[in-house]
Amino acid sequence: MSRIAVVPGSFDPITLGHLDVIERAARIFDQIHVVVVHNPDKSALFPAAQRVQLIQDALAEARVPGDFVVAGWSVGLLVDYCKDVGATVLVKGIRSQVDVAYETPMAIMNRSLAGVETIFLLPDPAHALVSSSLVRQVASLGGDVSPYVPRNVAELLKPNDV
Ligand code: PNS
Repeated sequence: MSRIAVVPGSFDPITLGHLDVIERAARIFDQIHVVVVHNPDKSALFPAAQRVQLIQDALAEARVPGDFVVAGWSVGLLVDYCKDVGATVLVKGIRSQVDVAYETPMAIMNRSLAGVETIFLLPDPAHALVSSSLVRQVASLGGDVSPYVPRNVAELLKPNDV
């Protein structure tokens, strides 16, 4: 039986930290679903469909080895998506105690709701301080985010030359 895991997130936008977690998850599981969870109450920089496309392009450009499905999910519980595709595990990256505090209740809830386990991967130190929200902030203030995001995302967030 093939082992399927889901790597969920807002991915607004995908960062090199996300890409690292996805790549390492693909070494552990046979198939990885990268799921852009769209929260209609949260205003995002990139529309969900564009975030899906940016992830697909980043995985292809980086030639990340593995069997990937990139999808959006906005219609219910994340564990319902897991059930639909036969995934029993979520994979998340945790960078700090703040992430542990944020992720722990969700992990316990997802196991309680549907028996879906969560596996946490520690970051590559090179990406330990990278977050989508900081990338958005730096880009909005005219900074260069190319060290923190895949090339296709950096291209979109490039500071104006004028
Ligand atoms: O990248 P983020 O914003 O930290 O991702 C958070 C996300 C989307 C993974 C989280 O909000 C989530 O799992 N949402 C799904 C909603 C859900 O199923 N909630 C109930 C169980 S916790």
